[in-house]
This record gives sequence, structure tokens and C-alpha cells, in this order.
Amino acid sequence: MKRLAILTSGGDAPGMNAAIRAVARTALGQNIAPYAVYRGYEGLINGEIEPMTTLSVSGIINRGGTILRTSRCERFKTPEGQKTAAEALNSYKIDGLVVIGGDGSMRGACALNELTGIKVAGLPGTIDNDIPGTDYSIGFDTAINTALGAIDRIRDTAHSHERVFVIEVMGRNNGHIAIEVAISGGAEAALIPEIELDMAGLSVKLDEWQKRGKRSCIVVVAEGAHRATDVEKFLRSTTGCDVRAVVLGYTQRGGSPTAFDRSLATRLGAYAVSRLIEGHSNEMAGIAGSHLCSVPISYVQSGSKPVDPERVRLVESMAL
Ligand code: ADP
Ligand code: F6P
Repeated sequence: MKRLAILTSGGDAPGMNAAIRAVARTALGQNIAPYAVYRGYEGLINGEIEPMTTLSVSGIINRGGTILRTSRCERFKTPEGQKTAAEALNSYKIDGLVVIGGDGSMRGACALNELTGIKVAGLPGTIDNDIPGTDYSIGFDTAINTALGAIDRIRDTAHSHERVFVIEVMGRNNGHIAIEVAISGGAEAALIPEIELDMAGLSVKLDEWQKRGKRSCIVVVAEGAHRATDVEKFLRSTTGCDVRAVVLGYTQRGGSPTAFDRSLATRLGAYAVSRLIEGHSNEMAGIAGSHLCSVPISYVQSGSKPVDPERVRLVESMAL
């Protein structure tokens, strides 16, 4: 392998920069020239490619976002878009590609492998932690800590005013973020897309808790389950509680990555390049327990990553 391109795609996630740095520096250490592709597949189609040096990735390990920028590119899903992107890679004589993003982005990498024969590797980069084949994706730990910081602050004011707060977190199709922040934020309930919660039952419990003297309650809701404002309206009309809604939104996608995400991103980046050098392709680097692993990208695409039922039960059993 002589020339290795790197791109970030889909929603950005804290730790993507640490991953870019690890990929570029591991390549340079093996006399492979790293190439930056800007704006994900959009930039690849437009030929936004340039060589990187050690300095290109200096001072970025602590920065959120992605220095390569990112996009969601509908054009790349068409055969014409993929053909143009493949031509761009060929014209730069790229013979390896690392894609950092979610499962959609990895599908794109496989499409390019089929068209060009270029060896491709995926790194799981999304705050949603919904990628099968890895316990953690880059960005999840930072996102839950960011959400948790906000929840802790909201708890202070909720307690002073004896209110119920409905807090909406990200998670379009799944409740991984919601469940994790509900456990660590001591929330009384979590509403997630995977499980239909008995809302009338929740109203009854909130009234009971208030009568018993509980001063504040937090209900975490994943954006893909309900809108916080709808839940707020429902709880206002079905309980005697004073209810407020907060949407945390994109604050969860920004900020300096935690030590966990920086370390994970660096380990996965270095590992993915070593697998490519060994001749493997169409794999995603992941983590199982504390060990690095690689899974075929086809596995990543084969289904969704279920929420842990034990964690779901824990939210319920801690709410008394
Ligand atoms: P994520 O990578 O976080 O899952 P998306 O699903 O939005 O985010 O995918 C990011 C980009 O990857 C898309 O905008 C598109 O350019 C590319 N992509 C997604 N799905 C496919 C697919 N089935 N085939 C080819 N490219 C895809
Ligand atoms: O995939 C990560 C994610 O942050 C989801 O949790 C969220 O629903 C989505 O991206 C938002 O995407 P966009 O940046 O396209 O609005």
C-alpha cells in the first residue's frame, strides 16, 4: 500500500479528529502517504483530495468535530455518484481508504471497494453507539458526558422548584444515549424508540412520587421515541406536576472528546491501518470488552444493535 485516503462521513462525533490523526500517523510511520478527502463522499465526488503531512494532524487530538468536515451526500448513493468518486480515487492512485462514520458511511466504502478494488476499512464514528460489531463507537462517551452535565444542572433547578423535567437527547432510531444518561443521571424514566412505555402508568407514578415528597423528577426521552414538548403537554394534562421540556440537541455532538474517546479513536485508527497493511479489506475496527476486533462491514449492515435489556430494567428499578 502506497497511498491511503481518509474521510469522515455522516454526523460528526467527538474523537473523529483523534481517529484521523491516528490513521495518518500510523500510515506515515509505515511509509504510506496519507491523503485527506474533505466533506465526506461529497468531497470525493468533487475531487477535494490533498496529501497530508505529520503537521496536518498536529494539535487536533483534543478538538471536537472533524478537521476533514463531513456531509450526508445523496448523490453518492447513485451509480453515477459512486462512479465519479471511484474515478477521483483512481486519479490520485489511492490504494487504501479509511472511512470514519456510521453504518451508512461504511456501506459507501464497500460500494467503492466493489467498483475499484481499493482496500477499505471502516471506523465506527457516531454519538449514537448504534453500530453492531463494536461495544462503543467514537463519540458516544463524550456525548453522554455532555448530556449528563446538562442533566445535572437541570436537576438543581428541578429540585428547587419541585418540577418534572422532560429532557430530549439524540438517538433518531435507538435509545442507547437515552438509557446510558438515564442510568448515570438518576432519571426516573427513559422513553426510547425500541420499547413502548406505558405513559398513563408514568403519569400515575409521577403523582405518587410527588405526594410522597419527591422533589424533582427527570424523564429522558430519545428524539426518535417522542418530542420532549409532546411528552411535556401529556404529563401536564395527566398529572398535577409542574412540567418543563428541554431539548439538548446538537450540544451533544460538539465539544472536546473525553479521554475514553481519544484513546478509543487512537487505538481503532492505528489498528485499522495495520489490518489494511496485512491485506484485509471491507472490515470495521471495533472494540469488544477491552480488546480490539475487526468485523466484516457486511455484519455491520446486517441489523441493528439492540439496547441492553438489563440496563433498561435498571432505569426502572432505580426509580422509586
Ligand atoms: P451514518 O454514516 O452516520 O450512518 P448516513 O446514513 O447519513 O450516516 O450515511 C452517510 C453517507 O454515507 C450518506 O449521506 C451517503 O453518502 C453514504 N451512504 C449511506 N448509505 C449508503 C448506501 N446504502 N450506499 C452507498 N452510500 C451510502
Ligand atoms: O447520527 C447521529 C445523529 O446525531 C443522530 O442522533 C441525530 O438524529 C442525527 O445525527 C442528526 O443528523 P443531522 O446532522 O443530519 O441533523
